[in-house]
Amino acid sequence: MKTSLLILGAAILAPSVPAQKFEHLAQTPPMGWNSWNTFSSHISEDLVKGVADAMIANGMRDAGYEYIVLDDTWSLRERDADGNLVADPEKFPSGMKALADYVHERGFKLGIYGDAGSKTCAGYPGSQGHEYQDARTWASWGIDYLKYDWCSTGTRDAREAYTTMRDALYTAKRPVVFSMCEWGRSRPWEWAQDVGHLWRTSGDIYDSWDGYKMWEMGWKRILDLQTSLVDDWGPNGIAKYAGPGHWNDPDMMEVGNEGLSVAESRAHFSLWAMLAAPLMAGNDVRHMSDEIIAIMTDADVIAINQDPAGKQGFRALAEDQAGIEVFIKELSEGEWAVCALNTSDETRELTIPFHRFYMLGETKELFDVWSNQVVGDTSESYTRAVDSHDVMMFRLRVPAAM
Ligand code: GLA
Repeated sequence: MKTSLLILGAAILAPSVPAQKFEHLAQTPPMGWNSWNTFSSHISEDLVKGVADAMIANGMRDAGYEYIVLDDTWSLRERDADGNLVADPEKFPSGMKALADYVHERGFKLGIYGDAGSKTCAGYPGSQGHEYQDARTWASWGIDYLKYDWCSTGTRDAREAYTTMRDALYTAKRPVVFSMCEWGRSRPWEWAQDVGHLWRTSGDIYDSWDGYKMWEMGWKRILDLQTSLVDDWGPNGIAKYAGPGHWNDPDMMEVGNEGLSVAESRAHFSLWAMLAAPLMAGNDVRHMSDEIIAIMTDADVIAINQDPAGKQGFRALAEDQAGIEVFIKELSEGEWAVCALNTSDETRELTIPFHRFYMLGETKELFDVWSNQVVGDTSESYTRAVDSHDVMMFRLRVPAAM
């Protein structure tokens, strides 16, 4: 009896490796595709395979899109007799492991969705009380990314819930990007740097410029929630909390979806790049116009998003009357990105008053990332006509030494 108590005591006191998040992941904002915005519950293994194949054919994979993420409704409505989550065999007849193999063989990673409560937002089993079991299941399938939602959580504490799943993922030993989706309720940017790799900051996006439904907002409204003026950190001045391995997530993109004009898609993509936001496509990438492919695979805009310094851009100027908002993002090696958005309903001459942005430093070359040409420098203001809800966007280059 004494011996077994001693052994038990030793086991409890034995030092174990403290769980943490997988630190080496998401050093730049994650890029990929997520099923929810376009397909909601209409997901299947054929869809995922078609998406992977399309992203190779249309250049998205080579442009950097890596994570293919299945959102809600992938599982059966009930766990099995042993309490395991089960992939819906009608949607995924070959099983998740085979699907993960398929996408891995093509150079992608596979993501899945879970929920910190008793049920997911669509009413499927949540992971509360099953965290370690579910993390092991996902690891055994070869899952690389987890989006973890916040429905049916009752009085659960967000920090406890997300830390528990972080520890479960770490203990399961398969590196997983941990995408927290509690809609910014508990101000995760203030505490989640060591817990998740990205955290949602607001409610859900839908394919609209600035529409508003019960729970969903157009991308301009979501943008407004992320930003603040330089001199005023505002109600949600969260840019300073983003950095390599821990990103503010203003939600998956609606670029290319029906409710947006091409100009609105281009502006949406540009501004998500400026925010160092995760670039998760939310459209049907199997059927895209050439214009939308060109937007989503633009190497210069993606490079601004993926800049290794990992600085989130901020809104430096907003003038309602003039219909202009200007965003600025610090890049590595003394360079900057500047993006001006026409917020009005008509084509307007927009002026970027570079002299007002002291942080930009000495005169720099203005490289227009959408037209791929140098159009001047920052020694004077720059003016150009910009269509309604469209942008002009520049990389401010340090001129080559004379
Ligand atoms: C919540 C999330 C969405 C999506 C749905 C799925 O609303 O915020 O992004 O995952 O649940 O049910």
